[in-house]
Amino acid sequence: MNIKLVNKNISEVSAEVLVEFLTKDDLESHKEAKILKQAGFKAEQDSTCFLYEKTILFCGVESKKSDDLRSASACAIKALKSSNFISAKLSVISKSTLSALVEGLVLGGYEFNEYKSKPKKSALEEIFLTTDDLDFEKLETIFNEAIIVSNATNFTRDIVNKAPQEINPQTLAMLAQKLSVDNKLQCTILQEDDLAKENMGAMLAVGRASVHGSALIHLSYKPENPKKIISLVGKGLTYDSGGLSLKAPTSMVTMKMDKAGACAVLGMIKAVSELKLDIEVHAFIGAVENMVGGNAYKPDDVLVSRSKTTIEVRNTDAEGRLVLADVLDYAQDAVNADYIFDFATLTGACMIALGQYTTGLMGHSHKLKHDLSRAGSDAGELISSLPFNSHLKKLLKSEIADISNTASKPYGGAITAGMFLDKFIREENKNKWMHFDIAGTAYTEAPWDCNVYGATGAGVRLMTQFLRDIK
Ligand code: BES
Ligand code: ZN
Ligand code: ZN
Repeated sequence: MNIKLVNKNISEVSAEVLVEFLTKDDLESHKEAKILKQAGFKAEQDSTCFLYEKTILFCGVESKKSDDLRSASACAIKALKSSNFISAKLSVISKSTLSALVEGLVLGGYEFNEYKSKPKKSALEEIFLTTDDLDFEKLETIFNEAIIVSNATNFTRDIVNKAPQEINPQTLAMLAQKLSVDNKLQCTILQEDDLAKENMGAMLAVGRASVHGSALIHLSYKPENPKKIISLVGKGLTYDSGGLSLKAPTSMVTMKMDKAGACAVLGMIKAVSELKLDIEVHAFIGAVENMVGGNAYKPDDVLVSRSKTTIEVRNTDAEGRLVLADVLDYAQDAVNADYIFDFATLTGACMIALGQYTTGLMGHSHKLKHDLSRAGSDAGELISSLPFNSHLKKLLKSEIADISNTASKPYGGAITAGMFLDKFIREENKNKWMHFDIAGTAYTEAPWDCNVYGATGAGVRLMTQFLRDIK
């Protein structure tokens, strides 16, 4: 499917179907109001009504703001794809909502069919976004950038959605390497012997029972005179069985998505390099598989992390923080960044705290939280801060080591996980670091907003927005 922006009034563009967005007020005064009402269409957000004879697809919207249009255009594309029409047209509502419109179409139209022997074929080939705005050049730029960001989000989704027998730490490293070649990035991959030389005892322990060697992937995008340097760290658990603290069967299903943080940072660096931003970006990925076996790491083990902090393992299912502890420590030595952001499907507790639709944001800097929240709301990703406190921190105390990998009480589990990571952030970096818990937002088994079944690409739009806003 091809989306084109054309500099014409909608009436001058020929396409089989016209798509119209209607608010409840629009519906009242519309010339088709009578028949639409007869069809039961109330212009509710995300409802659609296809008048096939008139070849018009009506889509209800609460308002003509970006968030509502993004969600509605995702519904529109689904309705179009399930019809047999080949082309459709819709008019650009405003400059400020064009990105959302494009995102809705590209993200809502996404399907992952790699494992279907007979994938559904859609007849839809072309969608025209029409505008007679005089400032067409500006609109074209917005359009092209929205396509880059949306495609990067779908790139992330594609990797997350791949089955764990296909994506393991080594194949993930190969995919990252391919991205580095395609996008002219630098790429370094540390294999297990390198990780041992780096004394990454926490990360190595998690991957020990896997037949696939763990890998630390480092990609960098280095423009000539960067305004800022950013390190992005991703949790890349290509599978999380829980390890010896084995997950229950129903909780284990979907755990291929435990690599979503890693895939998100790949999508981010892809987007940044294609947008040619003046920001130096480093992506660090801890690619590991958490399995069981005779040599698996165990509850009661004490691990020596790269930073020399010793960690008592009380639950092998709290593995993401162990991997991130070492990768964050490595990243802080490798690059002197202005900001360090980590993305991880870290805790089920984050979902309990915020629901499935909101990313949890943790860290020390109020200013950074504010700027990231703003980027989230501009990009249409929900994000909310979960505050650290000294009482919860005490729950991570260990009698035998410097810290325990699990809090002694389950309440506030997203925050205690975030505070565990904080232990590995150096004093001088405290205000540069933010942790994103995307456990709820990275994957869905029911469509919502512009997300379809499976991976959502959470974090990609938000972070590219933040990086584009850097002055
Ligand atoms: N990968 C999981 C977190 C997760 C759960 C992500 C559900 C997405 C959906 C993580 O490694 C994990 O298992 N965390 C444990 C931590 C606990 C043992 C302290 C959890 O959340 O139960
Ligand atoms: Zn786990
Ligand atoms: Zn995990």
